[in-house]
Amino acid sequence: MIAMDLEGAREMPDDGRPMKISRLCGALGAEVRGVDLARLDEAASAAIRDAFHEHLVLVFPDQDLAAGAQVAFTELFGAVEPHPLRTRRTVDGFPAVLIIENRKGRPGARNDYWHSDISHAERPPAVTVLHAIKVTEGRGDTMFCNMYRAYDALSEDQREALRGRRALHSGMATYTRSLEHNDARAIDRAEVKPPRAHPVVCTHPVTHRPMLFVNPHFTTRMEDMTEDESRPLLDSLYAAATRPENVYRHRWRVGDVVMWDNRCAMHYAVMDYTEDMARQLHRTTAAGAAPR
Ligand code: SIN
Repeated sequence: MIAMDLEGAREMPDDGRPMKISRLCGALGAEVRGVDLARLDEAASAAIRDAFHEHLVLVFPDQDLAAGAQVAFTELFGAVEPHPLRTRRTVDGFPAVLIIENRKGRPGARNDYWHSDISHAERPPAVTVLHAIKVTEGRGDTMFCNMYRAYDALSEDQREALRGRRALHSGMATYTRSLEHNDARAIDRAEVKPPRAHPVVCTHPVTHRPMLFVNPHFTTRMEDMTEDESRPLLDSLYAAATRPENVYRHRWRVGDVVMWDNRCAMHYAVMDYTEDMARQLHRTTAAGAAPR
């Protein structure tokens, strides 16, 4: 049976809890209610997939998602894989479920910089899923920005100047962070691969829309320029991407599941909490393709 959701103006499967999809802001993000991510049928999975490609970030409040169910949900979007640098603790029995954690005596590793997860990989993850296990109310929000709109905001001249060009992405930032934070395993420098070049403007493999694919954390420079020469150009792209009207800021509640498209959204974990403020999120990623 199909129920009509008036606010989202979409037809949704009716399993007694009609799915309701509400936009969260003008730039990106939608909240999805009336769905249990541990028990999805075909129609609900398809509706979530469509909403994901439209909104880039989906928020599912009040989910009771065990680690295995989180893996199964993430697998709807691609193969679930462990972090290549294995810097963090994982849930027992689930090596692909990372624990992002801040607690007394173990301050969490910072993620307060705009980035796309593991963009230095040959095939960066397509999708990241976070499930909030512990939060301190009003602290440790996560921000997201829309990299389609960042591209759309460029002038014709700027787009022309970026055509065919590539930027280098390096895992060195993760290496450095692993030395600074005790919730992360210190990585051997030899594990960090040489920087990898990806196109600055990529085409999303599903929506076929152009988007910017650079980020201030992992992108070190334009392939054909020095770091100093690259800085003004890259900074102007980051400024376009992170202007306030292009950002959704998520305030965490226990049980929230938030998923985002790592190809066309950057994220930033706000560091406004101290060591005594609990924050624990379970993180999974689904594999993506090489950016093109
Ligand atoms: C991340 O940057 O992958 C984690 C984001 C967060 O901790 O909110």
